[in-house]
Amino acid sequence: MQKPIVVVGSLNLDLVARVDRLPSRGETMIGADFKTYCGGKGANQAVALARLGAEVKMIGKLGSDIFASQLREGMEQAGVDISSVESVAGSSGTALITTSNGGDNTIVVIPGANAALLPEDIDRHREQIEHASMVLAQLEIPHETTEYLGSMVRSAGVPFLLDPAPAYPLSHELLESVTWLTPNESETQLLLGVEGGDGSAYSIEECADRLLRRGPRNVILKLGARGVYMAGKDIESAYIDAFQVDAVDTTAAGDAFNGAFAFALAQQGMAPQDAAKFACGVAAFSVTRPGAQTSMPTMSESMAFLAQLT
Ligand code: ATP
Ligand code: RIB
Repeated sequence: MQKPIVVVGSLNLDLVARVDRLPSRGETMIGADFKTYCGGKGANQAVALARLGAEVKMIGKLGSDIFASQLREGMEQAGVDISSVESVAGSSGTALITTSNGGDNTIVVIPGANAALLPEDIDRHREQIEHASMVLAQLEIPHETTEYLGSMVRSAGVPFLLDPAPAYPLSHELLESVTWLTPNESETQLLLGVEGGDGSAYSIEECADRLLRRGPRNVILKLGARGVYMAGKDIESAYIDAFQVDAVDTTAAGDAFNGAFAFALAQQGMAPQDAAKFACGVAAFSVTRPGAQTSMPTMSESMAFLAQLT
């Protein structure tokens, strides 16, 4: 039997307004429609994994509101083991999302119950974490919890894929525990302390080098419609192109990529470059459908999509 992949992270109910273009500061505008979707970077990555056929367990917290049952149901239907998703009194995590017709978005996350996932919860699930084929995390849970998880996986020698989103400066200790660090472009700039610049302070290759010097074994820079750049100790440096599609909604494209990459690498035995190419395919599929978890393809959808594109 496969060793499960464990995702430690957030679950959010996404409240999504669709508009023709993103509003400018201070502007009031009329939107086209409003929908709710199951989201949260942790839950999205777990669902991406499960839809592809991975054995995946989620560790996280939900509130006691009506959103919690919708979020549980979404995860269960996708096939995620949610026996370690616990309930606390109060609100579940929520995200206020505005998506434009071009597929761009802005997201404000209100942590709610995700803020109650603490180091002692990680300790209670030590056995599952230490026996995982890979552990995935993001930054929508308390910082101290991610630090604690990092030290646990490092001592156990478990591969650790960290999505530094939403980004904040990370300690050297945490970065040294990371096998695969997967920032997008703005997260890369924030981690390197060059955010708010013109984005060209360093080349992409230089950004990867500078991040690698801070401790992770490998980095995969997510470059939106341009694909990814990967470099590190376990791979030859390479650009992997994105697949050309008409983007409807890019929300959770990064989550689709991370879930698919982890599945391909940890449970399908693919080489990292092949896993990244497969993950670019799954992520491209995801941007053609609206919503976060609703956009994650199954394995047969992914294979049909890739066959038609190549
Ligand atoms: P998000 O925060 O929206 O979940 P992200 O900012 O973490 O995503 P991106 O770099 O935007 O990450 O997207 C991740 C991957 O998804 C890209 O590397 C690419 O492979 C794929 N992707 C994103 N946007 C597009 C697009 N418009 N067309 C094709 N593929 C895309
Ligand atoms: O990565 C997309 C996710 O970010 C959304 O589902 C939202 O919940 C926020 O966590």
